[in-house]
Amino acid sequence: MNGLLLDEAPAQAAGEACSLDHYLVQPDETMDARIHAARQKLGAQAVVLGHHYQRDEVIQFADYTGDSYKLSKAAAETNARYMVFCGVYFMAETADILAQPWQQVVLPDLNAGCSMADMAEIGQVEDCWESLERLRATAGAGILPLTYMNSAANIKAFCGERGGLACTSSNARAAFEWAFRRAGKILFLPDQHLGRNTAFAMGIPLSEMVVWDPYQINGGVTPERLHAAKVVLWKGHCSVHQRFLPEHVDRVRREEPGMQVVVHPECRWEVCQKADVLGSTERIIQTIEQAPAGSSFAVGTEIHLVNRLAKRFAPLGKRVITLDESGCLCTTMYRISPQHLAWALENLIDGRVVNRIQVEHGTKRWARVALDRMLEIGR
Ligand code: 13P
Ligand code: SF4
Repeated sequence: MNGLLLDEAPAQAAGEACSLDHYLVQPDETMDARIHAARQKLGAQAVVLGHHYQRDEVIQFADYTGDSYKLSKAAAETNARYMVFCGVYFMAETADILAQPWQQVVLPDLNAGCSMADMAEIGQVEDCWESLERLRATAGAGILPLTYMNSAANIKAFCGERGGLACTSSNARAAFEWAFRRAGKILFLPDQHLGRNTAFAMGIPLSEMVVWDPYQINGGVTPERLHAAKVVLWKGHCSVHQRFLPEHVDRVRREEPGMQVVVHPECRWEVCQKADVLGSTERIIQTIEQAPAGSSFAVGTEIHLVNRLAKRFAPLGKRVITLDESGCLCTTMYRISPQHLAWALENLIDGRVVNRIQVEHGTKRWARVALDRMLEIGR
């Protein structure tokens, strides 16, 4: 390290980045003191944002923790020059879209992607939209594209440019209502489960929803079904949440009478129908926080959050278990390690911005429109 004062450091200083390999061979515990020291040196110039699925060794250093909505608001409001995003790629892209031009976003490991976001590619979505126009699904009251936050920046831009918006699991219903005030149909990308759960909760029957499979001609949907549908669901899903099954809920009901089942709306419709509460990660936490001592919960979401909740609430007399005994791990969230965080922060001290996430200008403009509409509707 050259010990440059940060204000003197150029945004992207020349010079070799400290090699990540040197960090990766160090044990986790040895990173704590280094991360603390780096945080202190960086002071208010850097904030660490941490999604609830991050492991304990990482999230302990976050200035802001939250679900996707809360973190995007934090990113839009912070004045820090650097945002180090301990989450996945689409979250860091969102932070960059919402950031001021002088702010920079870092994702400690670029391999921290999201398999669901990868299920909708812009070329496929453009083809789908063309087919919808050709099949006259856009005729009459029209159709608006809506995308879940868990999508690439260019998908958000696609929606923004066509009058649509982005949403998270905590404001999907508000986003659907917003869209239905302006159009007769919604194309929802890329999570079929969140789309189905949201529309069904609004009273739209399953018969008025179709699934668009980008690998089939005309999405594998007949023109008749398309015309009758109010919601066109993209055929994407979260491989973590899709592992929770209705029989897991049945087992809890059988073996743990009185236990509440709380699941993320990325779970299948059949699971959500059997659950007591559906909610974003933040809502899951609040549900348990607000429950009286003696309550117990089987939670259908990522295992790091479930384990943390179990540990936190046990002394308060609340029991938390995972809905699926084999546990569901988001391997891409897990990519962010204390070693990656230490590496990113120590490079910032030297004025080197490693793993910067920068959304291309044209994409940013329309993606910002989609995100601003989302932030306007709140949750
Ligand atoms: P939340 O917005 O509920 O935190 O969800 C993000 C996510 O990726 C869940 O899989
Ligand atoms: Fe993506 Fe699923 Fe991981 Fe969330 S839990 S980041 S949707 S793969």
